[in-house]
Amino acid sequence: MRKFLKKISHPFLKFGLNFYYSKPRNFTYNNIKIKVHSDVFPPKLTFSTKILLDFIQELELENKTFLELGCGSGIISLLATKKGAKATASDINQTALDYLVTNAEKNHLKVEAVYSDLFQNIENHSFDYIIINPPYYPKAAKSIKEQAWFCGENFEYFEKLFHQLPSYLSSETNCFMILSQDCESEKIKAIAIKNAMAFELVLEEKKLVETNYIFKIVVW
Ligand SMILES: C[S@@+](CC[C@H](N)C(=O)[O-])C[C@H]1O[C@@H](n2cnc3c(N)ncnc32)[C@H](O)[C@@H]1O
Repeated sequence: MRKFLKKISHPFLKFGLNFYYSKPRNFTYNNIKIKVHSDVFPPKLTFSTKILLDFIQELELENKTFLELGCGSGIISLLATKKGAKATASDINQTALDYLVTNAEKNHLKVEAVYSDLFQNIENHSFDYIIINPPYYPKAAKSIKEQAWFCGENFEYFEKLFHQLPSYLSSETNCFMILSQDCESEKIKAIAIKNAMAFELVLEEKKLVETNYIFKIVVW
């Protein structure tokens, strides 16, 4: 965490990030072209979204039900739709959802965009796939933009997530979560274990200086 805060408080990086965030930016994957609002998690500047996109690109998704919990730009849900899935994309960031609706229309893809605090407004309990790229730095978010990064001082996001998740998991569900070496994964896993879930490593990928891990979350 200290390393991350040091990274983003460096004057040059801070200036660069503020400049980058000053207007909506374009992002493209597999011919899906989207605009990302400056208040939304930037898929271009981070590794996690791209690693998930490459992972999902390889999945057989024809006619599968797919939930991206905390969708940000929604590029992952758009890719899932393009691969034949029935995708639902949820977030607490209304700007992200508004942009996703426009981006979906422009790409002639259909995604159900749902405003939801975690699973609060998610009615379907039997998705074939659930994909989560969570906020994981232990700090209280001061804005909607910061909610993409910070999970609360005491990991409140994960406490709530792992409390709700079991009723959405069956032996048929493929629930994948990406975490980085930068986060306190042992603490996050402990919260899952407390709620009778376990993490199985399915992919480890190093990009530049950061290693990311995709875990399958399973019920004991
Ligand atoms: C790290 S970003 C990932 C965005 C996107 N899935 C991706 O991979 O590019 C985390 C996302 O979760 C959303 N989020 C944070 N807390 C949430 C909550 N309680 N309920 C729903 N979404 C939440 C944030 O607004 C943000 O869009």
